[in-house]
Amino acid sequence: MAIVNGLADVVAAETNVSLVDGKNGVLVYRGHFAADLARHERYEDVAYLLWYGQLPSEEERVAFYEEWAQAATLPSHVENLIDQLPESYGMMETLRTAVSAMGEETYSWPASKSQALRLTSAATTIVARRYRRLQGLDPIAPDLSLSHVARFLHMLEGNVPSEAHVAALNAYMILTAEHGLNASTFTGRVIASTQSDLASALTGAIGAMKGPLHGGAPSGVIDLLEEIGSEENAETVLRGKIEAGEKLMGFGHRVYKTVDPRGQALKQITLELKGRDPWFDLANHVEKIAVDLLAEYKPGRQLYANVEFYAAAILKALQFPSALFTPTFSAARMAGWSAHVFEQNENNKIIRPAAEYIGPMPKE
Ligand code: ACO
Repeated sequence: MAIVNGLADVVAAETNVSLVDGKNGVLVYRGHFAADLARHERYEDVAYLLWYGQLPSEEERVAFYEEWAQAATLPSHVENLIDQLPESYGMMETLRTAVSAMGEETYSWPASKSQALRLTSAATTIVARRYRRLQGLDPIAPDLSLSHVARFLHMLEGNVPSEAHVAALNAYMILTAEHGLNASTFTGRVIASTQSDLASALTGAIGAMKGPLHGGAPSGVIDLLEEIGSEENAETVLRGKIEAGEKLMGFGHRVYKTVDPRGQALKQITLELKGRDPWFDLANHVEKIAVDLLAEYKPGRQLYANVEFYAAAILKALQFPSALFTPTFSAARMAGWSAHVFEQNENNKIIRPAAEYIGPMPKE
């Protein structure tokens, strides 16, 4: 039997959750363009869509927001656990440990929507609490009157965030909420396929996300934007890098061989927020020049800004340190991971591929 290294292009499941169409640069969540959702919906609504298959009605939305806000408060034993973990436990180790400890209501099979809501809502509280503790600051209790994303920013910084920052982070978290059968989602589905519980599946998924080959931070793009510094330097710096044979960080994508729909959607949002944050404006300018230069130097390669490019601009505008990048990405992906666990549970068969033995045989 042919062995496919890394299972690349192996179709291992049918899914209703999302379509990742790299050839046409399209990302669809349950029949909706992710780009449209990012501009018009709240993160909670998109989680609802991923879990229930349709956006909530007005009535469902009110009840869902209410339940979601209530779920943002951590059980006291999880608060204590976060506070007592040694400093050597970084943000991802803490998120992984705390999610696994969220409580027995998340430990049953099959996974339920309220378990997913509990864990997804709590993830940002865990991240914000640990972040503040590591800064030597007191944690900020979740403000239940805010949206999920605004509450996250408030718990990190203590200020009521600007509308522009909430809109940008909301879009980023929606566009990274789901992306097909990537490594962490597959991990979650493998765990769910043994009839294990949602907390275990999400804990395993976080573990997979922690690796730099998956949850790699867009730090390279931040370095590039910082090096450019102001619009008038963009062309010289970018031209110099291309002529030196360097890849421009934040451009090109392995799957999307045309535009990256997530990059495009974030670009649109930063354009709409023009003048609201200097990092958005610098990123728009750099992107325009870079795309023109890549077309000049690398004709026909179809190189456009990927999700990391605009993610970097947004995270920079929010003044997030790099320690928050992968945890924020993971907190966003909780919705997609949970949707895949539901799908796995609905039509379950234990995932159990085979390996070809190439070691020695016992001597007679
Ligand atoms: N800058 C300049 N040239 C580039 C870039 C870039 N960012 N990306 C690709 N190219 C060029 C290559 O040099 C190559 O040119 P050639 O035909 O003259 O040899 C051609 O385009 C094809 O490039 P490959 O590297 O073969 O494309 P591949 O699909 O293997 O790589 C990758 C995709 C790894 C993302 C690449 O575009 C890259 O390194 N980009 C910069 C790093 C980056 O932004 N990574 C984040 C990706 S987003 C994400 O992972 C969520």
